[in-house]
Amino acid sequence: MIVPIANVLDAETLGKIRELLEQGTFIDGRQTAGWHARQVKNNAQLQSGETARQASALIHQALARSAVFNAAVRPRHIRPMLFSQYSGGQDYGAHVDDALMGSGESLTRSDVSLTVFLGDAESYDGGELVIEGTGGEQSFKLDAGSVITYPSNTLHYVAPVTSGTREVAVTWVQSLVRDPAHREMLFDLDTARRSLFQREGKSREFDLISKTHANLLRQWAET
Ligand code: NI
Repeated sequence: MIVPIANVLDAETLGKIRELLEQGTFIDGRQTAGWHARQVKNNAQLQSGETARQASALIHQALARSAVFNAAVRPRHIRPMLFSQYSGGQDYGAHVDDALMGSGESLTRSDVSLTVFLGDAESYDGGELVIEGTGGEQSFKLDAGSVITYPSNTLHYVAPVTSGTREVAVTWVQSLVRDPAHREMLFDLDTARRSLFQREGKSREFDLISKTHANLLRQWAET
């Protein structure tokens, strides 16, 4: 399930992040890619440190406030954000994200990958995030403050940026619900029961869907 979510970051948060990024140092993105992704990764990335930590925390806080993000992803652990810039023809060729990231206490299984768009779609050409699926490729280029979440088990790439600069933050989430199909069923049930509640309040039908939603979550969640 690929879920684009608009307006996760408001203008104020975007402004703060942009200020932080201006203070930071960008280095060759190959340094944080896995050994095979390194061959196709061609971008600049904010050096880790206090600036990156502060900018990452702002996005984590915004994600925590997003009801849609929480219902779609069911985060157990969200890794620190990586901030990337693509310009002058840079791209990130087809790759699959590492299944395990970090080590020790911070060891994370990547279930969901996410991209946060920090600049407006009109401010650069190219730079689409393209996700391969059984039905073909799907291409995404969202406005500043929007987030796209997609299963980490896909092949995906970033098309070359032919003018302007593509600024994004990316990270990976270990979900409480490992199976993407289970996550989708929970998300659909949750969406349906919320819309039912809007329409008719706390009806008998709402209670029964809520019960099933809670019981499936109880069955599938790994805490
Ligand atoms: Ni990737």
